[in-house]
Amino acid sequence: MAPSAAIPSTAVPIVAIDGPSGSGKGTIARRLAERLDWHLLDSGALYRLVALAGARAGLGTEDVEGHTALARTLQADFGRDPETGGERILLAGEEVTAQVREERSGMGASRVAAWPSVRAALVDRQRAYAQHPGLVADGRDMGTVIFSDAPLKIFLTASADERARRRHKQLKYKESTASLAALSREIAERDERDANRAVAPLRPASDAFVIDSTELTADEVFERVIELGRSKGLWA
Ligand code: DC
Repeated sequence: MAPSAAIPSTAVPIVAIDGPSGSGKGTIARRLAERLDWHLLDSGALYRLVALAGARAGLGTEDVEGHTALARTLQADFGRDPETGGERILLAGEEVTAQVREERSGMGASRVAAWPSVRAALVDRQRAYAQHPGLVADGRDMGTVIFSDAPLKIFLTASADERARRRHKQLKYKESTASLAALSREIAERDERDANRAVAPLRPASDAFVIDSTELTADEVFERVIELGRSKGLWA
C-alpha cells in the first residue's frame, strides 16, 4: 500500500522535540506531556544511564562492546518521587536521579551516543514508548531517525551563551559547583560531538519547525508549541 500523508486513526500521535543541550527542550517536553496526559520519552536519559552503568561496571571509556552490551540489557525505570513529585530515575532498581543529571553523565552520554552499536541497541526501546494516547519524545534524533514519521517535529535552539546560562542555573539549583566558563566549554564540546558524529547527528529534520528560544520565556515557547499542534490537528 502506498504511504499516505494522512495520519491513520490508529497511529499514535507523536511530538518530536530535538535540540542541543540547554535549549529548554526537556522542560517543554515534560510540560507538554503533562498538559496532554501523554507519555514522555527522555531519550537523553537513556544514553546518560548507559554511560553511568558503564562507569559503575568499571568499563573503559573506549569500550564500545561493553557499553553496547549494557545498552541492550539496560534496566531503566522512570517515575515520580511520591513525596516531591520530582523525577525519579532507577538503574537496576537503584535510584540514580542525581547522578544521571550531573554534567559528567551528559558528557559520558554524548561519548557513548556517538557509537552506532549503542544507538542501535536503544532503537526498539525508544519506539516502544509510542503508545496511546500519545507521546512527546525529547532528544537529538527523535524527528530525524527514531520517529521520522512524527506529525509534529520541533527543533528547539538558543544561543550558546544563553544555553550555558540555563544549564548553569539548573545545575546550581541542584547544588553543583560547576563554573559557568567550564560549563560553557563542556556544552560546546558536547554539541560539537553530537552535531558532527557519523550516525544520527544533531540537526533539524527537513520538516521540523525551528524555534529559537534565546529571547523567549518558557511560557512563550510552550504557547508556540501548543499553537503548532493545534494547527496540525493534534489537539483542540
Ligand atoms: O538531552 P541530554 O542532555 O540528556 O542528552 C545527553 C547526551 O545524549 C547528548 O549530549 C547526546 C546524547 N543523545 C543522543 O545522542 N541522542 C538522543 N536522542 C538523546 C541524547
